[in-house]
Amino acid sequence: MGSLLILIASLLTLFSFSTGDPGGPGCNSCHPDDYNALLRIKKGLNNPYIIISWEENGNCKDWCCIECDDATHRVTSLDVGGDTFKQPTNIPAAIGDLPYLTSLTLRKLPNLTGPIPPSITNLKKLTFLRLDYNSLTGPVPAFLSELRNLNSLRLSNNKLSGNIPESLSTFLSGVVSRPDLYIDMSRNQLSGGIPAGFGELDITSLTLGRNRLTGDASMLFGSKKGAYVIDISRNLLEFDFSKVRISKKLTNLEISHNRIYGSLPKELSQVYWQIFNVSYNRLCGEIPSGGTGRLQDPDRVGASAFVHNKCLCGLPLPNNCTRN
Ligand SMILES: *[C@@H]1O[C@H](CO)[C@@H](O)[C@H](O)[C@H]1NC(C)=O
Ligand SMILES: *[C@@H]1O[C@H](CO)[C@@H](O)[C@H](O)[C@H]1NC(C)=O
Ligand SMILES: *[C@@H]1O[C@H](CO)[C@@H](O)[C@H](O)[C@H]1NC(C)=O
Repeated sequence: MGSLLILIASLLTLFSFSTGDPGGPGCNSCHPDDYNALLRIKKGLNNPYIIISWEENGNCKDWCCIECDDATHRVTSLDVGGDTFKQPTNIPAAIGDLPYLTSLTLRKLPNLTGPIPPSITNLKKLTFLRLDYNSLTGPVPAFLSELRNLNSLRLSNNKLSGNIPESLSTFLSGVVSRPDLYIDMSRNQLSGGIPAGFGELDITSLTLGRNRLTGDASMLFGSKKGAYVIDISRNLLEFDFSKVRISKKLTNLEISHNRIYGSLPKELSQVYWQIFNVSYNRLCGEIPSGGTGRLQDPDRVGASAFVHNKCLCGLPLPNNCTRN
């Protein structure tokens, strides 16, 4: 029991260290180059309230929203979020002047607008880039592929438009070992196809829902794929689902509100689903039964996950399959 409490206490400490909240560890001192860069970033963001603690005092002791390496005093993490900037504000180019950043978060800033600046490619050590719940416009820039160490790219809930650049699917090449890869671009205005190269990536979680993506997404699936989340719901995707193979690692599958046709693969009944929804497509044929998927179980999946298709039949839908 005692050791459990210690474990919980140390986990809580870990979490408070990773949120970047004001009152987090901050830095005892930071490298003069980073100190100056942070002041330029503050000015570029029009001096928002949330980073009011970034005062010109010669060091960055007690500054919120940053973490530093104890030995080098370089800023390794910047996490600013949850502020209502008084005026529309762009991501300042000075963001690229913190070359030791491994984690950059600017989120829940409704007046953070404009494009993702090219200077972000100076952040060569970046593994975690989170720019969600802002009002960013312009494209998902092709230059993000220069961030070779990225393993988490979260751009959801913005106003990004245009195609997802094919180059993004090459941003893994050259990386020997990569932990889980997370990509979330949901709730934007992205159009065009999903890059074919995404089929070659070992993506852990891919969320592209609520865009205007068209064409094929079958390359994302396969019996050997490692993804446990695939959400491509609410797009204009159109492909034959019969040919798709489902990996047993997949636990969250959301493809609703597209133009997907064909029948449901048998393996769907073999997965223990956390989230499953294929409604509002053009699917046909019998809903697979049996297995651990329990697609028929109203407490697990239920009819609403299958409704509004062309001719799906069998439980949990009320219409019987008529065989001939
Ligand atoms: C965003 O900026 C506009 C224009 O200055 C302002 O009217 C609005 O209140 C700001 N939004 C927020 C959430 O502060
Ligand atoms: C599936 O999606 C439809 C349409 O968005 C929704 O109405 C339904 O509740 C969802 N069902 C499940 C089980 O998620
Ligand atoms: C479906 O088949 C079952 C068993 O054969 C039958 O009892 C039921 O009335 C049928 N339902 C419909 C909607 O035809």
